Amino acid sequence: MLNPAFLRSSVGRKAIVGITGLLLIGFVLAHLLGNLTIFLGPGALNAYAEKLRHLGPLLWVARIGLLVVAIVHVVFAIKLSIENRAARGPVGYAQQRSLGTSAAAKTMALSGILLLTFIVYHLAHFTFGLTHPAIAHLKDPLQRHDVYTMVVLGFQQTPVAIGYVIAMFFLSRHLSHGIQSMFQSIGLNDERHGPLLEQAGRVIAGLIFIGYSAIPMAVICGFLTVSGGRR
Ligand code: HEM
Repeated sequence: MLNPAFLRSSVGRKAIVGITGLLLIGFVLAHLLGNLTIFLGPGALNAYAEKLRHLGPLLWVARIGLLVVAIVHVVFAIKLSIENRAARGPVGYAQQRSLGTSAAAKTMALSGILLLTFIVYHLAHFTFGLTHPAIAHLKDPLQRHDVYTMVVLGFQQTPVAIGYVIAMFFLSRHLSHGIQSMFQSIGLNDERHGPLLEQAGRVIAGLIFIGYSAIPMAVICGFLTVSGGRR
């Protein structure tokens, strides 16, 4: 059982934000790998989605777990951010820069809010089929949910595809700083390891951006098409 005093301390809150952040990065990576099967053709992505669906109650446990983790992450991150602002006091921009705050760190709250907005839209788009109901319930020749065609038709609307790429940019900014902060929270960013871990954070965030953005970009460029998978 977690000690309430620990949860109220700055160190405790940082730990909670870090651990929940790590779990969310785990989901982002797993979701990316699953989505990348789109490049193997409709059969691969639809089979993957069908396998997830067949998990039944286990899928719901994972979904509810993910939601709880995301809520805890957001609530504790807001608390930390309010505390940090109060502790910093009304300092000017020049002073904040001298503290070594990177641009990504300063935009954590903004990128976090944009990410939340993206996730709400994304669930309405592909999970609940609210924004584009006509493409939400298609079936493939094996009578599976045709996730492949839903995604390709979804991204053939260029503004939607560009919106996703912009959202992925904010995701990668958020992750880049988040990963560095996580290393800091567990005391790994000493003089020797600090720059290397900072670099590692940037590389992981960059790969996540490239991986996710590749999907809407491939659709816009006509590499992924509805008729025969890849051109
Ligand atoms: C190009 C980028 C992305 C694509 C193509 C994509 C695709 C999809 C699809 C097709 C589904 C519905 C799966 C189904 O109903 O079988 C889905 C669900 C979901 N996606 Fe994404 N996604 C992308 C990026 C993201 C990102 C960056 C996040 C989180 C930061 C995310 C979070 C989720 C969540 C939470 C669900 C609901 C999972 C569930 O409960 O079934 N997605 N995504």
